[in-house]
Formats: sequence, C-alpha cells, structure tokens
Amino acid sequence: MNNTFYLNISTAENLGIGLFKYQLTSPERFIITNSALAHMLGYLSRVDFKRITLDDLFLRPYEKEKFITLLKEQGKVKFFETLFKSKDGKPVWVAITASRVLINNKRDYAEGIIENISEHKETEEKLELERDFMQGLLDSMPDAIYFKDRQNKIIKVNRFYAEGSKLKYEDIIGKTDFDFFPHEQARKMFEDDNYVLSGKSIIGKIERTLLPNGTWNQVITTKIPMYDRGGNIIGTMGITRDMTAYANLERERLEMLINTVMVLGKAMEMRDPYTFSHNRKVADIAEKIGKALNWDENRLLGMKLAGELHDLGKISIPLDILNKPGKLSDLEFKLIQEHVVKCYDLFKDIKFPFSLADIVYQHHERLDGTGYPRGLKGQDINEEARVLAVSDVLEAMTSHRPYREALGLNKAMDELQNGKGNKYDPQIVEIVVHLVSDSGNKIFWSTN
Ligand SMILES: [Fe+2]
Repeated sequence: MNNTFYLNISTAENLGIGLFKYQLTSPERFIITNSALAHMLGYLSRVDFKRITLDDLFLRPYEKEKFITLLKEQGKVKFFETLFKSKDGKPVWVAITASRVLINNKRDYAEGIIENISEHKETEEKLELERDFMQGLLDSMPDAIYFKDRQNKIIKVNRFYAEGSKLKYEDIIGKTDFDFFPHEQARKMFEDDNYVLSGKSIIGKIERTLLPNGTWNQVITTKIPMYDRGGNIIGTMGITRDMTAYANLERERLEMLINTVMVLGKAMEMRDPYTFSHNRKVADIAEKIGKALNWDENRLLGMKLAGELHDLGKISIPLDILNKPGKLSDLEFKLIQEHVVKCYDLFKDIKFPFSLADIVYQHHERLDGTGYPRGLKGQDINEEARVLAVSDVLEAMTSHRPYREALGLNKAMDELQNGKGNKYDPQIVEIVVHLVSDSGNKIFWSTN
C-alpha cells in the first residue's frame, strides 16, 4: 500500500543510522549491530566491532552510568547526547535513543539507534561561540545597548545597561520603559521607539533624561529598526551614551563666559544705573515670552542674556546725550542708533551656543523694514530679536525716562497692537496680550 512505511535494517544502513541490541546483564556485549554503527565509530565492519562494550565507547564513564540509570528507571531514553570514542580514540558526538527490554526478568537488554550528531554539534558550538563573541562585544561597550520587540518590551540589554539601572538582568527582560522611568520620560521614549518601528532611524539625538532615581543626565541616543531575514521589522535596537560629564564641562565653560560678559553689564550699571535696570527688566519680559513659546533651556538662556546686554553698546555714547531731556538733534539720534553696531562688535567674536551678537544687532529692526541699522524685513529678523524688540518697547514705554514720565501699560499695549503685523511680530504681540491679561492687566515682569 502507498501509505505503508518500511523501515528495516538496510534502510537504516542507507540513512547512516546505527542500530543496536546490547546485553546489559553480565557479560555486557552487543548482540546486534549494523555496519552504519561500526563505520560511524571508525571500524571497518560489524565483525571488527564485535568485541566492543559500552565501556569502551563512552568517553566519560560517568555518562555511561547516567545513561544506564535513566534507561533502567524510565524504561527508555530519548536522544541522549554524549561523546563516544572512535577506534582511533577520537571523540565523536552521538545521540542514543533506546528502550529497555527485559526477558523473564532475567536477561536485560537495551535496543535502539545511535546517530552521529558531530556536524550538528559543530554548528551548535560555532553558533554558541558567535553568540558569546557578540555578547562579549556588547558587554565590553561603555554605552547602554538595548533591544526591544515590536511592543517595545526589552528583550536583551548589555552589562552597562544592567549595571547602570542597578537591576538584575532577569528583572529587566520583558519590561518596558514605563516600568523604570518617570511616566513623561517613558512616554517620550515610547514615541521614539514607535517612530523607529515605522522603519526610520534616530541618529545621535541629544536629550536630557530623567533617570529612575530622579536625577537628570545628558545623553546621546541612536535607535535603529531590527529586521528579520524576510526584511520585516521585528523590533528596535538602541544605544545611549551618557554625556553628563561632558555637558557639565560645557555648562561650566558657558557659565564662566556669561559671568565674564556680565562684568560688562556691571560696568554699565556703574556708569548709568537707569539703562541697567531697563536691560534687566527687558531680559525678564523676553524670557517670559520665550517660555510661552516653549523654547528649550538653552534658547531661554540666550534670550535672557541678549536682554541683559542688548543696550551695552550705549557705553560708547556720552551720558549727556544718552540722558538728554528734550528732543535730540539728527546727529545725536544717529549717534544713539550706533549702539546696536557697537554692541554687535563687542560680541561678534565670542563663541556662544546661541547667536547673541545677531540678536542684539537686530533688536531695533522692524517687520516692515523701517527699523535700523540695516532695515531688515519680516523673517529676515531673527525670532529672538523680534521678541527683544517687543520687550524693549514694552519696558521703555512703561518706565520713567529722563526726558519724559512713564507712559503706562495701556499706551504701551496700544503701540504694540497698532504695530502688530507691520512693526512687531503678531504672534509675539499676542503672547504679550495674554501675559498682561493673565496678570490682571498689570505689569507681568519683575521691576526690582
Ligand atoms: Fe536698544
């Protein structure tokens, strides 16, 4: 019949499977073997193999004991992997599958098959070596490396990750970032992972991370999709490097620089306390507008500093012109206008992580090109300078000046509303309108 399956000794021979019947009662010996078994172990023929016992074959005697014990206890043993000795003493990996046969409770036999699994073992060992090599490589990296599945569950991390999280490896696997990080932080990481799962990569993203222990650190992260052989995305791989020490150094350097330029502001205060307090208030207004625009910390710092120093160029203008009551002559007005250029010259060669020189250079420019010194228009004026322009007007009109009394918040707001869209950035004016109304139609910045 077509569906009958014949397996006899010659079929097994052709497949290279060793067949045996072995007497376990003393004297131990092979009762039946086939040529495939003899050849597998380097013997010429079955006859050549005859005087051999299992004691001669097992490379490690204790494994024979284990095999026999298992066989006697369970009546059968499936795929028992062990090392045999070939005729010339070389180790051969085999797998034994056998059943125990008891005749009249006296004679005890094992019968079954023995397969040569050397090739399979070699492949397995190679894979293991490769795995060890990969793991060693990952573990020697001084960065946190992690692999996640399509549900963003962690499937593997390296030693640096585990040590940094102070958790046991097994307590990390299967978890998500929500198990370790504050919710908002984990949500951002989840978003990034989902972006990468769509097939895109995130390369060298610099961010501040809130750690599980509540401290912040500065990191640079790269995340890429992982593919299977069919080209399907099966998860993500991420590498995160801690740059906190470097960022702190940069911060210290920047603080030193800021302290140095603030000395210039102090010099100005000694000369003209009025201008100094104007600058400080403008800085506060500009910073509040920046916050409403959701600027990051670095940008806010640049904005505040630009506010503090934007009129520093006035240090070159004679005080009697600067504080002159009454109308200025054209020449005097030209001289005062010069302060932006002077200010630009003071800062243009200092390297800040924001464009301080350009901001102060452009703070008297107006959207319609009627400002000075270059008559820049619209988006050609940088955003910080547009914020500074609005803050400057707002503060100047609400303060007392040597040549006039304070005009008041309402007049200042009228000026901004009238100039909205032609002189002043409409979005920034709107923000000021909200800030004023939020503070109950009063001055919303610090005045001391
Ligand atoms: Fe100015």
